[in-house]
Amino acid sequence: MQVLDFDTLVIGSGLAGLSAAYHASKYGTVAIITKSQLDTSNSYYAQGGIAAAIDPEDSPELHLHDTMVAGRGLCEEEAVKVLVTEGRQRILELIDMGMKFDQMDGNYVLGLEGGHSKRRILHAGGDATGKEITCFMLQKVKEQNNIRSFEYAAVTELIIKNGQCVGVQAIDFQSGENVIFRSKASILATGGLSRLFSRTTNPHTATGDGIALAYDAGAQLADMEFIQFHPSALFLKNQDAFLISEAVRGEGAWLLNTDGERFMKDIHPLAELAPRDIVAFSIYKQMQKQNSPHIYLSMKHLDAAKTKTRFSTIYNKLKEFGYDMTSDLLPIAPAAHYMVGGIKTDLNGETNIPGLFACGEVASTGVMGANRLASNSLLECLVFGKRASEQAAKRKPNDLTQTVKQPLTNDITNEQAFLETKNDIADLMSQKVGIVRTGQMLRETIEQLEAIGRKIPKTITDYNELKARHIQQICLLIAQSALLREESRGGHIREDFQHESPDFRLHIIQQKNQEPFF
Ligand code: SIN
Repeated sequence: MQVLDFDTLVIGSGLAGLSAAYHASKYGTVAIITKSQLDTSNSYYAQGGIAAAIDPEDSPELHLHDTMVAGRGLCEEEAVKVLVTEGRQRILELIDMGMKFDQMDGNYVLGLEGGHSKRRILHAGGDATGKEITCFMLQKVKEQNNIRSFEYAAVTELIIKNGQCVGVQAIDFQSGENVIFRSKASILATGGLSRLFSRTTNPHTATGDGIALAYDAGAQLADMEFIQFHPSALFLKNQDAFLISEAVRGEGAWLLNTDGERFMKDIHPLAELAPRDIVAFSIYKQMQKQNSPHIYLSMKHLDAAKTKTRFSTIYNKLKEFGYDMTSDLLPIAPAAHYMVGGIKTDLNGETNIPGLFACGEVASTGVMGANRLASNSLLECLVFGKRASEQAAKRKPNDLTQTVKQPLTNDITNEQAFLETKNDIADLMSQKVGIVRTGQMLRETIEQLEAIGRKIPKTITDYNELKARHIQQICLLIAQSALLREESRGGHIREDFQHESPDFRLHIIQQKNQEPFF
């Protein structure tokens, strides 16, 4: 089996991975390993922007306050402080490096999104911030000659030796070969898992790989029950959900029920711009009340020319679906969007396994609490990507003799069976572990997932079997954690425990071969 040595491995190529790789390259050699192309990531599709207190009327303290309020008592204040203060610095650094955020008359144009008390969302290319910022960072990464990229290569196992992570084993889809990567440090930046729900805003790659790899290796996971549902994804029968940015509501768009009523006004003082968990749940309740699979988003009362310019990507995409966002009512419904919990890390992105780091959506750094404040995620990628890479650089070289694991095949004839398992699981998750859960639904989900698990071979020899095992395991962890949290808080809503409970102002930690603990 081929063996390659690097100082730092970065797994995943969204903004967190690119940021980590760029900074790690200042200290040594870096490999970026991604199962798809370098420019395929959730970050790439981010529309809204990146939140930072750069306006003279704003401050990191206000940003911290809004983040803590949205997080419903579960944010770690120290981590949020790091996010909002270093976040501002990282943005200014990016601007110095040449990143162009949208400006008007020499001033940055700042957007507004749910839960923010100030306009503080920087954006680029109107509503194409994710694409602009990931392409910018990708260019910076490509300019570093000590970074090597491995596209279409999936990590199949983290290699743990004497309790430390000393590298990874991967399968190269192009050659079909297994490869060992040895390193001082491995940084997981594999993004989220919302593709494990049938209705989602995420690309096909968002299947929680990093979560499964880390859990298998013995890493602690935190708060897996918190899945954020984005309130406004286009609803078209039998079609993928398409995200319509919250920034649209920031510019004044209304949410209307099927009777044309602007119901959010009576629910929260911020109306359509209440924190995301409140808006998504309120939409869910309207849909139930009216027995409708959607409500409407309306921009008919706004300046059409301005809407078209500010949201040109969304405008053009909606046109493809037959809608004019300036004049039509848009059918929308919530969709799984973001994994709020994840691999538990300290403020430097280090997990409980020395040598293993995590940053971006896959990590639980403590900044998101029970509900992420809109547009804080790209910021988290920049801040904790850099921190993780700097901490990784401090590690001493490992003992590089490694245990070679069983090489896996990638037999495409097994892919159909995997896709069937994946679709069954995604339907189950959307039906029973969606916006509103009950103990009964969660227990049924666990039983069904266990039954699915019994059909997956115990000894894994093929990558498709591994993928099936991974998604079954991850969903089981989400359902088990959701069952334990007997309250409603942020993105976790229990019909049988409808109120926030002070007894649950704590994190649920899951670790392999151990009972969950708080
Ligand atoms: C959006 O544009 O509404 C999504 C931004 C985010 O998830 O932070």
